[in-house]
Amino acid sequence: MSRTPIIAANWKMNMGPKEAKDFLAAFKNENTCEIAVDKVIVPPFVTIPAVMEALNGCKCIGVGAQDVSDRDNGAFTGEISTTMLNELGCTYVVLGHSERRQYHGETNAYINKKIKKALAAGLIPIYCIGETLEQRQGGQLEAVLGSQVKEGLEGLTAEQVAGLVIAYEPVWAIGTGVTASAEDAQSAHAFIRSVVADTFGAEAADKVRLQYGGSVKPANAKELMSQPDIDGALVGGAALKPDSFAAIIKASL
Ligand code: 13P
Repeated sequence: MSRTPIIAANWKMNMGPKEAKDFLAAFKNENTCEIAVDKVIVPPFVTIPAVMEALNGCKCIGVGAQDVSDRDNGAFTGEISTTMLNELGCTYVVLGHSERRQYHGETNAYINKKIKKALAAGLIPIYCIGETLEQRQGGQLEAVLGSQVKEGLEGLTAEQVAGLVIAYEPVWAIGTGVTASAEDAQSAHAFIRSVVADTFGAEAADKVRLQYGGSVKPANAKELMSQPDIDGALVGGAALKPDSFAAIIKASL
């Protein structure tokens, strides 16, 4: 089956409201609206309203958040709820990014709760997984990816999994300038899809979209995106500039 590619800009802790408005003013001139891929911007929480305002109802870019709480509301200082993201008009939420796993101790089980919370609120999770260099060199690639998929998605229905986005982001490729080769990325994606097939069935595996992330840039996007199991990209650094984010979108077809 054909899966619509999805290209997302994870701005991480960059881009305040003013910078975001400048970005979108310039991005409009890149004419990406007609390109038949799903485009997503994932700003910091405080920048989401400015992005919504700048989009001015334009539906050609979806907006996501970088995280969400697994709780409803209450005394959880610093947390943001799914209800709040709904109120802002978010469609997506990035969960389990390696930076949250690494710096905030997030585990597969904890991320699983957030994924369930997001799904219950009608948000589409972009669930991030990926191995460290030590794990890859130690021959643990498949064990790590397998448990991230199974534990992170535990208890979900096949239908829920079919609607997800899973981002394969090898930790050693994030922000390093070192990209996984197209062959390595494809083989990891094929493995992830096979785990989804074993756990949730062939239809879910066929439908779930798998993004690659880790030093994606205009120069390598086309080769990565042309792999059969790579359905898009989750882009950090190269998505901070309107022209380079647009070039990646254009390379994805
Ligand atoms: P870079 O594109 O900067 O390597 O970041 C990738 C990433 O972590 C996206 O979530």
